[in-house]
Amino acid sequence: MTVQHDVIIVGGGGAGLRAAIAVAETDPSLSVAVVSKVYPMRSHTVSAEGGAAGAIAADDSLDEHAYDTISGSDWLADQDAVEAFVREAPEELLRLEHWGCPWSREPDGTVAVRPFGGMRKERTWFAADKTGFHMLHTLFQTSLKFPPVTRYDEWFVSKLLVDEGRVAGVVAIELMSGRIETLLGRSVILATGGAGRVFPFTTNAAIKTGDGMALAYRAGVPLKDLEFVQYHPTGLPFTGILITEAARAEGGWLLNKDGYRYLQDYDLGQPTEQPVLRSMELGPRDRVSQAFVGEVEKGRAADSPYGPVTYLDLRHLGAKVIDTKLPFVRELCRKYEKIDPVTDLIPIRPVVHYSMGGVHTDIDGATPLPGLYAAGEVACVSINGANRLGSNSLPELLVFGARAGVAAARHAAQTEPLAGPAVEAQAADEHRRLAQDLLGRRDGTERLADIREQLQHTMEGSAGIYRDGSSLAKAAGALRELQERAGSATIDDPSRTFNTELTSALELSAMLDVAECVVHSALRREESRGAHQRTDFPARNDDKFLAHSVATRDPDGVPHVSYLPVTITRWPPGERIYGR
Ligand code: FUM
Repeated sequence: MTVQHDVIIVGGGGAGLRAAIAVAETDPSLSVAVVSKVYPMRSHTVSAEGGAAGAIAADDSLDEHAYDTISGSDWLADQDAVEAFVREAPEELLRLEHWGCPWSREPDGTVAVRPFGGMRKERTWFAADKTGFHMLHTLFQTSLKFPPVTRYDEWFVSKLLVDEGRVAGVVAIELMSGRIETLLGRSVILATGGAGRVFPFTTNAAIKTGDGMALAYRAGVPLKDLEFVQYHPTGLPFTGILITEAARAEGGWLLNKDGYRYLQDYDLGQPTEQPVLRSMELGPRDRVSQAFVGEVEKGRAADSPYGPVTYLDLRHLGAKVIDTKLPFVRELCRKYEKIDPVTDLIPIRPVVHYSMGGVHTDIDGATPLPGLYAAGEVACVSINGANRLGSNSLPELLVFGARAGVAAARHAAQTEPLAGPAVEAQAADEHRRLAQDLLGRRDGTERLADIREQLQHTMEGSAGIYRDGSSLAKAAGALRELQERAGSATIDDPSRTFNTELTSALELSAMLDVAECVVHSALRREESRGAHQRTDFPARNDDKFLAHSVATRDPDGVPHVSYLPVTITRWPPGERIYGR
């Protein structure tokens, strides 16, 4: 069957819902489809904890937020995008308040802000430590007010349809019934989130398999800066569950096995009783995660059944602060580690958290493929460059979700729908691939789970906090082999009802494409910048690499990496200095 919409949004998390609202507000005559592989309230935005940055305090300014973001990015962010971002972030956060988001308040009723890593001012708005839950709920309930928005919950988009050099729609499968449909649309917005699941140890939900990045890549759209993978310094050692940076913002300390605040040895300042902005535990994530590796190498980390750990100490904050500002941290520690942060140290280790790179877009979310847009973690605008500051991603999905929605609505209103034999033939091929090649493939020689596990271990071994050329080159070869093997993986389950094996096969193929782009982009970048640390090229090299990498798919399916210039407006590249 074929259905026609004006704008199709792939992904029902924060960016997707914000985009849907923007389309409906821009032009109420447009029909909008939100196609999401999970029910929107189960999207990964729900798990964001610490907060959303936007300059609002009397002593803060947009320029300071911009400078922190740009220096935090190791000067790889595009400064025109950052300027738009910092300007629109507080407006978006206030808009969310008007839509019902219960921001935490000061006793005088003003919106409360907390410090966050790498930020020189307190500017992170929060809703206790369940900020993502409240933001997503607000966006979801607001989206319900717009009749032109039709939801396709639990539908998996497997292909972008492209004809005459522009996007024509998508093919999607309804997971409950196995029904395959063609959805034609004049604009498509990708809002599918990141790809943390290409690594074995991640804060990311199982759904974050890089689907939107792979859809764009296969349609000829470049993936930008994918080598920059963010480790969050404080994950629970067994599950990878995030212990929010807000815990350090409220005054938590990082200790090694000897009870020593080790960040003082890594150019991040000196210990103080009260947290100091941009210093020690409030340093940027790349540096704090790298310091953990330093402690392991010095033999100063503790052993645990899940590898080396250091500790997050919240005991001095006391039960009252923990229960008011960090209730979820206490709940997570009790449930998943059987410890109480009021009385116990929390064992932690760095965990893959965020993809700074993604689908190459301009400042309005437009990709080089006319009619295709992207917003949120799937996209690379870029405001995050080589290292994102904590609490910039929630406002990013609002600002650029809204911008992509407006741009996609305008494009749809000015464009004739594409249909006809070429689009129909592409759609028919994809229907056949899903129904016969995948659902009918019961004689394969490989197991999906084996390939996925080998993929994740290849990534952990080669593209972690520190990398080098020889392990990346080996990984590139190993991933090629896994791509071949994935083509003959068995799908034993013939059912059309919630066939999770089919979903896994589609996700695995996206993960493999994204992983190859990460590794090839990392191999080509022979310097160290932000979250990309090459032990064989330990210095930043602005002469050669003050540039965005862009990976495109060459005819035999291997990523080809080239470079685009970084936009510098007012802040020339400089040294990143923290701790003073
Ligand atoms: O630590 C955190 O709450 C994470 C925030 C973020 O990634 O922006």
